[in-house]
Amino acid sequence: MSTTTSANGGEPGRLVFPDGFVWGAATAAYQIEGACDEDGRGSSIWDGFSRLPGKVADGHTGDVACDHYHRYADDVRLMAGLGLRAYRFSVAWPRVLPTGSGPVNPLGLDFYDRLVDELLAHGVTPYPTLYHWDLPQALEDMGGWTSRDVAYRFADYATAVHARLGDRVRTWTTLNEPWVAAFLGYCSGVHAPGRRSPAAAFRAAHHLLLGHGLAASALRTAGAAEIALVLNLAPVIGPDGGEDGTSAPVTLVDGLLNRQFLDPALRGRYPGDVLDIAARHGGLGHIEDGDLEIIHQPIELLGINYYNPSFVSPAPGAPASRAFPGSEGIGFDPPPGPTTAMGWPIVPAGLESLLLRLSRDYPEVGLLVTENGAAFDDVVRDGRVCDTERIGYLDAHLRAAHAAMSAGADLRGYLVWSLLDNFEWAYGYHKRFGIVYVDYATQRRIPKDSALWYREVISRNGLSYGAQGDR
Ligand code: FCB
Repeated sequence: MSTTTSANGGEPGRLVFPDGFVWGAATAAYQIEGACDEDGRGSSIWDGFSRLPGKVADGHTGDVACDHYHRYADDVRLMAGLGLRAYRFSVAWPRVLPTGSGPVNPLGLDFYDRLVDELLAHGVTPYPTLYHWDLPQALEDMGGWTSRDVAYRFADYATAVHARLGDRVRTWTTLNEPWVAAFLGYCSGVHAPGRRSPAAAFRAAHHLLLGHGLAASALRTAGAAEIALVLNLAPVIGPDGGEDGTSAPVTLVDGLLNRQFLDPALRGRYPGDVLDIAARHGGLGHIEDGDLEIIHQPIELLGINYYNPSFVSPAPGAPASRAFPGSEGIGFDPPPGPTTAMGWPIVPAGLESLLLRLSRDYPEVGLLVTENGAAFDDVVRDGRVCDTERIGYLDAHLRAAHAAMSAGADLRGYLVWSLLDNFEWAYGYHKRFGIVYVDYATQRRIPKDSALWYREVISRNGLSYGAQGDR
């Protein structure tokens, strides 16, 4: 990839990003807030799921997490000190509507009101996400996302949050990673609510998309300036290195992971191959006339959460992966190479090819990297966390993003996952993704070397050419 051009002209020795490029960091409510019983918050599916034996490593829960609910003002000061221009957080539905619908809990909205004011007072633009997986338990009890009604409840909730924050928030994200919510939540069962039914997952995916469309339309009517949908997207790579439909396993996994969400939201239709798989797993009765028109709302931004490509190969006789119905005979092993502490392959070029594919196939929508980052086994020594590997990961992915922009991708910004170490779902607190270390015993925050490096990147609006570390 080219490191000799810049997206806006450039200067010798630097890789420069365009003026106004959005630099920031991301978190999510259940992963950082804690205060799970305070100010009238209702239960979410993650409160219940994390209490089930064996579902989360060492029985960890989000009860306290990073205690951000109480420490948000300090955390915003920390963000401002790092020079962040944008902060992506999620709003907890059960704080706002404790039983998912019905009367609004004003105390729940007060928290986000205070947070948004604090961010704006420090020059940090708020990027709220309305759904980052913490469905009110009361709605799960009615069927969760397998129930069509939940999509309508989601739009009501979006409207209630907009009514409070819409005077100060410009960009609204509906969903985070509907593939994960549907297929890890309702099919493989490794996420809340822990169901294991392919048919339920396809229904849930459709109702999540419907909820996105209904909420996007309601937000637009209420005056939202920019609307975004955040997807976990990945290039799918076959044994020959080919992407995008070059072999049957590549097509199948690409359909389920990427096109199942991209095509309805951005083109108003489901891919035929995905419908065939869904039809074999419970049928298509949940898709009603007019749904795709609702789902296909104009949106300004597609949020991309990129961590690694998916590697697939023919594996005759292999059972289907639990998260990919219909994937009998497909192997999912990555080739040997460097990985993060999650065991996820480190492939920065995957971000470049993903951004280029999206700008080729869906040119009408602006792109924003809403999550990218890595877990490593960080340790504090003499009050410092020397996370050279994370700097290397971030540096390489930013170079890949820059290369894609130089080749024409309409990328507007980059939000690192995550601001803070936090509750990493089924892995509990064992995996540290933060650029800021959290000592959970004391709640002390220690900016890692990567945070200090990122501050430099932001202040220079770019990277130095040399190997990471010589700046
Ligand atoms: C994404 C999630 C985020 C975090 C990262 C590591 O799938 O959106 O909450 O867990 O992975």
